[in-house]
Amino acid sequence: MMDVGRHPNIELMTYSEVESVTGYVGNFNVAIRKKARYVDPNECTSCDECAKVCPVTVPDEYQQGFSSRKAIYLPFPQAVPSSYILNMENCLGNNPIACGKCFEACEKKCINYDDQDKLVNVEVGVVIVATGMDVYDPTEYDEYGYTRFENVITSMEFERLICAGGPTEGHFIRPTDRKIPQSIGFIQCVGSRSRDGRGNPYCSNICCMNTVKDTLLLCDHYPGVQAEVFYMDIRAFGKGFEDLYMRSKEEGVKYIRGIPGEVTEDPQTKNLILTVENTTTGKLEKHELEMLVLSQGVIPRRDGETIKRLLTLSTTSDGFVMESHPKLKPVDAPTKGIFIAGCVESPKDIKDSVTQAGAAAARASILLNAGKTRVEAITSQIDPDKCNYCGVCARVCPYNAIIAPDRKAKKAPIVIQAACAGCGACASECQQDAITMRHFRDEQIMAQIEALLAVEPHKHLVTFACNWCSYAGGDMAGTSRLQYPPTCRLIRTMCSGRVDEKFVMHAFKLGAPMVLVSGCHFSDCHYISAVQWTQKRMDRMWNKLEKLGIRPERLQLEWISAAEGQKFAKVMRELEDMVKAVTKEEIEHTMKVLTEEEAKSKKKKALKNEEVKA
Ligand code: FES
Repeated sequence: MMDVGRHPNIELMTYSEVESVTGYVGNFNVAIRKKARYVDPNECTSCDECAKVCPVTVPDEYQQGFSSRKAIYLPFPQAVPSSYILNMENCLGNNPIACGKCFEACEKKCINYDDQDKLVNVEVGVVIVATGMDVYDPTEYDEYGYTRFENVITSMEFERLICAGGPTEGHFIRPTDRKIPQSIGFIQCVGSRSRDGRGNPYCSNICCMNTVKDTLLLCDHYPGVQAEVFYMDIRAFGKGFEDLYMRSKEEGVKYIRGIPGEVTEDPQTKNLILTVENTTTGKLEKHELEMLVLSQGVIPRRDGETIKRLLTLSTTSDGFVMESHPKLKPVDAPTKGIFIAGCVESPKDIKDSVTQAGAAAARASILLNAGKTRVEAITSQIDPDKCNYCGVCARVCPYNAIIAPDRKAKKAPIVIQAACAGCGACASECQQDAITMRHFRDEQIMAQIEALLAVEPHKHLVTFACNWCSYAGGDMAGTSRLQYPPTCRLIRTMCSGRVDEKFVMHAFKLGAPMVLVSGCHFSDCHYISAVQWTQKRMDRMWNKLEKLGIRPERLQLEWISAAEGQKFAKVMRELEDMVKAVTKEEIEHTMKVLTEEEAKSKKKKALKNEEVKA
């Protein structure tokens, strides 16, 4: 932190918040709110005279509430810059008549009650997101008594108590009697690997080794202390971690396979009684301990939605930021020029975070040093003559790559080519057909539909598969030698968001018995939120088919990932049966209805265009 603060090429903005991010790779404009500190950081010498006279006392967040701080305080001992801040919410008032003691005590006169937030704009070429994580709040696990028993603490609170810079100067004392506890229990996976609706289903990655480290610290500080760890599995897979785990066992720490079902307290001794089924012996056991530490899991930042919105990031179902590609681009966000590092991507320890940060910095410097970037030639193009300035394209774009049109000035939207990723959602939603996707033009896709339905159309299942997942899932089925019916015909689009209503209707009009639209699982779309438009469009199409008297089941939607070759083959086999069940009369009726419908809508469109022109 000190090195960062001193580095000539790094401008460190602490106590600041990003307000907005606009632009695109190479040209980001970031608006930052530098919050008022009410203390000049360049003048403050951290002499502590102001805090000594401050009459306000509030719980110290950094010390997990075990000690207190003043309204004017140093956030934590290693803070950079080493300067106090004044919390106006705690301050008795910025009117010096109300208090003003700190102002009087400050010899350097660096306190300014009239300080204001400042908005600064910075131009940057790339952005690295390393906003970290939060820890799980174990209060919903009522059976552990965290809110009822003082001697039940979390692993974060343990950290503060055992730390030499903590509220007890490193003396691990029991909150109820201020004595060193002789028996301490640890419950693992609190809020992690949970399937009962509380906590999260994923493994938090760091808790096992954190507890192993905590037990070693305890044994080191207090030889002879009895430590017991209640666990489901100990995951010690990092370099040297297994050795550490073994060392902890050799020190006498007991590892008991089983998660306690209930914790009660002896009202006299304040000792905690844990009831646990030891799954190794299959016996129900009772353990009496003087203190209990809940090894809480890791969760995505609580303000993660704001970060996601500002940077057009997408998240996985567990709420962590999704990378562009898990194997090939693990530190790239889907938006070009944005990189991710640390726990914002997934729970990880310090070593992995540092490794990922190095990778993100290296990826960023490749772009910065090149000074230019290549874009894939699959971006969208807008024909201003066809555009009616509705602005739907700008609204659907997951990358904010389209500058909205100006209806009054009759200015068509503009696609920022460097920001467009080529998902095609805009082209599919444009009712004017004013958008062309390079290499995935409407004409090209229509020609593919026509070609595959040229012979015996009633036997073919037309399948639109997204490039990243479903198409790769088909590949996986093929390379795994899985059998699926040859009547399935694939048309590749970059994203399922590119599947236009007219493609589906065209296939039905040409006699296709069934159409399948297939894409990545909902939270895995490689184009952030483009898949949402697939779902919306599908709902619209199902309604339309129903209104036209066509069975909506003839249009199917499936989410198939690249690894799901089995699922791909299974879906194809199931749909083959459905294809066979579609009668000749049904197909002919569909063809007739859709041909009429097409003629009607062409007429309607022509009339509307004439009206607009007039
Ligand atoms: Fe597969 Fe969007 S990339 S559905």
